[in-house]
Amino acid sequence: MGLMIISIFVFLLPAFIHMSSWDGGRYLATLPDITGTWVCADHQNWDGRTYYIYFEIRRNKNAVFGRIRYPWGERKITRADFEGNQFELYDQTGNVVFVGERFGAELHLVSKVGPQKGKPRIAKLTNNFHIPDPPFPLPLPALKKIPQTGEAPAPPMGWSSWNHFADRIDDKTIREIVDAMVRSGLRDAGYRYVNIDDTWEGVRDGKGEISANSKFPNMKALADYVHSKGLLLGIYSSPGPRTCAGYEGSFGHEEQDSKTFASWGIDLLKYDWCSAGLIYRSEDMRAVYQKMGEALASSGRKIVFNLCQYGQRDVGRWGKYVGGSLWRTGPDIENSWQSVSTIGFSQTKWTQFAGPGHWNDPDMLEIGNGALTLEEERTHMTLWSMLAAPLILGNDLRHITPETLSVLTNREIIAIDQDRLGKQGYRLYADGGIEVWKRNLINGDIAFAVFNRNDQNRQYTLSFAKIGLLEPQASFRDLWRQTLLHSSGGVMKLNVPAHGVVVFRVRATEKSSSATERE
Ligand code: GLA
Repeated sequence: MGLMIISIFVFLLPAFIHMSSWDGGRYLATLPDITGTWVCADHQNWDGRTYYIYFEIRRNKNAVFGRIRYPWGERKITRADFEGNQFELYDQTGNVVFVGERFGAELHLVSKVGPQKGKPRIAKLTNNFHIPDPPFPLPLPALKKIPQTGEAPAPPMGWSSWNHFADRIDDKTIREIVDAMVRSGLRDAGYRYVNIDDTWEGVRDGKGEISANSKFPNMKALADYVHSKGLLLGIYSSPGPRTCAGYEGSFGHEEQDSKTFASWGIDLLKYDWCSAGLIYRSEDMRAVYQKMGEALASSGRKIVFNLCQYGQRDVGRWGKYVGGSLWRTGPDIENSWQSVSTIGFSQTKWTQFAGPGHWNDPDMLEIGNGALTLEEERTHMTLWSMLAAPLILGNDLRHITPETLSVLTNREIIAIDQDRLGKQGYRLYADGGIEVWKRNLINGDIAFAVFNRNDQNRQYTLSFAKIGLLEPQASFRDLWRQTLLHSSGGVMKLNVPAHGVVVFRVRATEKSSSATERE
């Protein structure tokens, strides 16, 4: 009898356990347990350090939460969904950031966002492990207005390593890019900066001096080479202890680094928020940037200050007061029409902040990186020029097609970008996927661009009354196709290719007698 009671109890025990964990209609006991701290030794950086990603996953009843710590900062885990053994981790933006499955003491994960999308990773369970705390914040200067630390009378034009090369950039490749810039005519078309983005950094010596890692054996010699070709050299750092790729940042070494950069002959610094977000409050961002602005100002060299904090905290209002000549207005661009068009067409709120010497930066170009059609590349180039945006190429210039080169060197489009009035263009109106944009130019000319965001070619009838002009006497030149655009009856019939653009320039003499400006 006793044995029978015991075996009934043992038989029913799992059901009791299930029942006791019944919560909100779900048997939690049936969900895979992914709680704990997991460490992923992702890869080794060029400075010899390991790039770690930590996952701290907790559960309270059926709510899963926690954080993912990268060298560049953190994502909050706000939710997990389970299906069979698989799970999806969501972050604070509501996006799935990882999908995965537990295998014993390992989580097998795949990234769902960012440049590492699709990359598989393994994180191992660790016991009694605490994610390292970030350092304490350092004192920050009282806010004031300092002048630009470098000169950018027109939006800077040049090239940067990140979009195409990411961490596969080194001294030899930079020299080849420099040679290609000269050979291709890009330098003579106005592209002057050659910018080394993240992953050049080595470690600091006993005195705190930073040096480059083994990919860049002699920065000064490289700068001399760049200068000898009539070009300028840009470099990259962060106000945090780590850059976004997990390399050494300038935290606590702002003055020292700006002097080092000056001694190497650096002409531009891109300063990327990254891990500063783990240390400083976001309301201190302006002071954090001012700290480096002041350091650059006393470095003994004119160094253009390129702010990169993804458009946070209304940077358009203060970027120029911390010494900045350009500031990013949003997230990282990706090599796709979706990314280019979403970023490019959503810049309206920044328009008022651009002006000679200080520019809104919707991010570097993806032209020539293989994902865009010719029409999309023309749209990218035109839109950035209407926006008075920096034209920083992001492709492999050593292997550039004649078609891409012709897009990048269209002098009439570049002239719109570089126009010295420095007034950013804006959307006049949008109409069924057609967007009509206008930019006023210094000699009184006006550039008009008619974009077609639809997936099909469109015939669009542009009304002069609607864009504030009376019917012109002359025809206009299509700046991409170099054909004439004729008008009659107060309208112009345009064929605008799918994802393409027709852009033309109205001469001051042409519009002066007839234009009715309405802005
Ligand atoms: C951030 C920036 C990018 C690039 C990378 C380098 O994501 O926004 O432009 O500089 O860091 O790690």
